[in-house]
Parts: sequence; structure tokens; C-alpha cells
Amino acid sequence: MSSVVNSERIPNNVDLAGDKKLQRALEAWQPRFIDWWKEMGPEGFQEDQIYLRTAVSVDHEGWAHFDYVKMPDYRWGIFLTDPVADRKIGFGDHMGEPVWQSVPGEFRNVLRRLVVTQGDTEPASVEQQRLLGQSCPSLYDLRNLFQVNVEEGRHLWAMVYLLHSYFGRDGREEAEALLERRSGNPDKPRILGAFNEPCQNWLSFFMFTYFTDRDGKYQLLALAESGFDPLARTTRFMLTEEAHHMFVGETGILRIVQRTAELMKKNKNEDARAEGGIDLPTMQKYLNFWYSVSLDLFGGEISSNAANFFASSLKGRAKEEHYEDHRAVDGVYAMDVPTTAGPGVVTGFRREEVPLRNAMNEVLRDEYIEDAQRGVDKWNRALAEAGISYQLRLPSRRFHRRTGIYGGLFFDVDGKVITKDEFERRREDWLPSDADEAYVKSLMTAPIYDPKQMANWIAPPKHGIKGRPVDFEYVKRQA
Ligand SMILES: [Fe+2]
Ligand SMILES: [Fe+2]
Repeated sequence: MSSVVNSERIPNNVDLAGDKKLQRALEAWQPRFIDWWKEMGPEGFQEDQIYLRTAVSVDHEGWAHFDYVKMPDYRWGIFLTDPVADRKIGFGDHMGEPVWQSVPGEFRNVLRRLVVTQGDTEPASVEQQRLLGQSCPSLYDLRNLFQVNVEEGRHLWAMVYLLHSYFGRDGREEAEALLERRSGNPDKPRILGAFNEPCQNWLSFFMFTYFTDRDGKYQLLALAESGFDPLARTTRFMLTEEAHHMFVGETGILRIVQRTAELMKKNKNEDARAEGGIDLPTMQKYLNFWYSVSLDLFGGEISSNAANFFASSLKGRAKEEHYEDHRAVDGVYAMDVPTTAGPGVVTGFRREEVPLRNAMNEVLRDEYIEDAQRGVDKWNRALAEAGISYQLRLPSRRFHRRTGIYGGLFFDVDGKVITKDEFERRREDWLPSDADEAYVKSLMTAPIYDPKQMANWIAPPKHGIKGRPVDFEYVKRQA
């Protein structure tokens, strides 16, 4: 097992002290990261003591340490899973060759782009979520928000480590740029669409952590297969932390569903809003929104970039070992591609057999959709158990897309072709309206800091964190 050093300025298991030049470069980046964190991290809580887990090793049994910490003092470290002896590349044109410990020259630009694109999402989500603490439904939720935030910060460290270690001056410049872009800022936006969308209330936060962090999971799973071993090892460890982010989303939505069901029964008309809850049709609209923007993150259905990543053995499929053919040279993926007559006007579909490598984004998206469905099923079971017939559902993958073969075209939630006018006419049936946003916001005007309390619109969780009770003081506010 690689030895862990937690006493240095940057905790790590990569023997940072053995590479003074790299250590100095990262120690020079560190204060800029902290400045970014103080400016763009959770606003109004930087002096508080938060009960957080910190990664301290990659040991399955005890990789995390739980204690109170002020967020700016969080020990963001660099941890890669232990190397697998004699690991061979598992897919693509380089299949069977030993994995690369340095960047092959011909893939340098592509690989840097992959690392930067992944890295950019990490600080972006912290920026999107920076005001949510001010309307938290409980201290338990406040703590979970901050746990997600600090770990996204650590994921940024993971990518910056790769940039500094393996990409020379270009990498260092990219590491600076990662602290300069800002989510939603039109002059210097984050790279990917969903990471520029405002996330202004807790319903959006839970949908984001369920759907958008799950895109992260699938991107990390695909990168965990990479022939570039340091990338594979760092993303493998990131997945350990990522699981909690999706747990926060899945249980957050479940708790809203449970509470809404209670409030519906309290009210004879089954109107949850009349009881100060979030009604199910509103939840469905937020689901439609965050699911569709998250689907876009996978990229085009037919993509020469995706083919290139796979061919180069840089980005594989999630759990590549579950597939039989790891070269994917001969396979095809059949899909219905819209045919159009002028911009935005769909005339029908043409069945197309896309070479499998060019369909890798869609292959990954399929896995994601199947995984996303599991949580929806769980939420629906809770509704059924409460005797409520309404069911939440994933809309068609064609609905409300901005990229790929469906991007800029108009489909209803069942994937049926509609006109632009019809889409606009029905937009507010399917996506959150300003009025919905105002209503949801009206439920979340003030934070709840009393550990014994929970906002009216959400049920308490089943368990607390790390064996602590639900009403534990997870955040000690600085008076
Ligand atoms: Fe992340
Ligand atoms: Fe995450």
C-alpha cells in the first residue's frame, strides 16, 4: 500500500515530498484555491465548525476521518487508489499493452482536454450551490451540502494534481483557469451547460445531486478504465466520495416525497401546496429539467470525439469488464435519428446503424438512464405505500435537449415530435415556471439551525451521519 502523509501542507499518498518541483508548484496553487473557496464557496459559513469527513487514505476500511472542522481549514488532499501490479490496458486500440505512467505524446492535447473538462465541473458545482446554506431545511442537510462542497473541492485537487504533474506549463495554466471561470458568468462560463444553470433552492439541489452528480459517476467510471494509469487511479478514488453525493440526492427527494404524501393526506383535496409542501407535479418539473440537462453532459449520440477517446484507450465504458468485445471495432449501435426540414422542424426518423465507437456517448448514457431509473422506482414505491397513485417518471431522452441529434428540436415528455409553438405553449406544464420557482423559494426563506427542527416540506432522514443521531449538532454556528 502507498504510504500516506497527512502531516504536510498537502496531504497525499503520491510521495509529493519526493518531487520538490511539483510540491512547490502545488503549494503555490494552494493559496489561490483557498482564495477561490472563500470567494465562491458556501457563503456565510466559513467560520462555522462543521462535522465533516475528510479523506485521509485509500484504505477501504478507514479512508475517512470524521470531525468538526472550519471549511477553509479542510485538509484537501491528493489520493490515488493503489496501483494494480502489471495492469494492462483493457479496451481500444492499445488493449493488452501495459498502462501508461506518463502521457503519450500523441494524446497529450486530448487527454488534457478530458482532465480539464472533468476538473471544471467540480468547482462549478460548488459555485452553483454557494447560497443554499442560507435556506437549509435542517443542520443535517446543511452538513451534507458542505460535505458535497468540500469533496467537489477535493475532486478539483485530484484533476489539478494531474495537470501539474503530467502536462507541464500548459497544465499549470489550465489549473489557474479552473479557478478563474465562474458558473453562469456569460463572460467566463464553466465549460459544460448544466454547470452554468442556477441551482437556487433545495429541490434543485437534491435533483442536481441525484441526476447531475450521477453523470459525474458515469464519466468517472469511464475514465477509471483509462490506459493513462494516474487518471484511472485518481478517478477510482473519487468514485468513493461521489457515492455520498448521489445518496444525498436520492434520500433528499425520497424525504420530500414522503413529506408531500403526508401533507396530501392531511388535506382532503390532496393539495400539498395548501399545507406548505412541494406538490408532486412541481417535483416532476424539476426532475424533467435536471434530468434533461444532465443527459446533455454525455455529449452527442454520434460522436467522432467519443470514438477517438475510445480508440486511443483514454476513456472506456463504465465497467468495461462487463462487455465482451473490448475493441468495439465491428459493432454497431442502431438508433433513430431525426430527419429535419429546416431548423427545428422534424419530419420523421431514420434508422441508422452507427459504428459502435462513435456511439460510446450513447452507450454510457444508456447505463446512466438505467441507473437513474432505480431511484425513481424507489420514490414511486414510497408513494404507492402511502396510497398515492401519482408516479414520478423520467421523461424521454429526446425531451428538452440542447446537444446531439435531438438538440434544438422539439419533443414532448414522451418523445413525440411537436412544433416549437406547441413546446412553448406547454413549456410550463413540463419545466419549472417562474411561479414554481417563486413558490419553492417561498418555502425556503429562512435557514433552520435548531438541531431538533426540520423544515415543513421535508421528512427527517432515517439515520444521522456516522452513527450520530439525526438531531446531532452537525454545524456549530459561530455566534
Ligand atoms: Fe466531483
Ligand atoms: Fe459529486
